[in-house]
Amino acid sequence: MSRLRMSMEVVDPEILTLLARLEQHDIGTYAHSMRVAEYCDWFAGHLNMRRTDRERFFHSALLHDIGKLKIPSDILNKKSRLTDEEWHEIRKHPLYGMEFVRELVASNIVMSDIITMHHENTDGTGYPYNSRTLELPAQVRIIRVIDSFDAMTGNRSYQLVKTVDEALDELIRCQGTLYDPEIVRLFCAHIQNGNQPSS
Ligand SMILES: [Fe+2]
Repeated sequence: MSRLRMSMEVVDPEILTLLARLEQHDIGTYAHSMRVAEYCDWFAGHLNMRRTDRERFFHSALLHDIGKLKIPSDILNKKSRLTDEEWHEIRKHPLYGMEFVRELVASNIVMSDIITMHHENTDGTGYPYNSRTLELPAQVRIIRVIDSFDAMTGNRSYQLVKTVDEALDELIRCQGTLYDPEIVRLFCAHIQNGNQPSS
């Protein structure tokens, strides 16, 4: 695996500004975004992704949930069941995200597909477009898996935390419906071989 990890020290200042706003707005989403980006970069290294693609992937992963800046933090952190209206609002965050990254996308620093499509599913049941993701760039299919893995294992207020093994079982159970089976296979094997981003 490539040891050349992405570093926050060389991230575009515009990205750092957006992340600082996200940290202010909702620390949980900020922490999740940092972990997901670290996992994406770690996995991209394992796949020997080209350096330029890997950089764009890392930047896009850092900002994948930036649209949550427009969702009130009391909805993001609500402990009780969300109303239909609140879910409807949350499901707009991939599209809201584009409002924050247009210039970064125009400069080829961020992939718009990651911002808008990271909740799309392999079988077309995701949101906001109900796209079938097997035709989408690999980075979109990878972040779909890693985003879910972190949602299951990370410390998020509205989800029951799973062990790593339970989370991998869930990824396997949902391969072919929510997730690209090949990405799930590679990701699970890499973790089960004892690899972690910090290792
Ligand atoms: Fe998201």
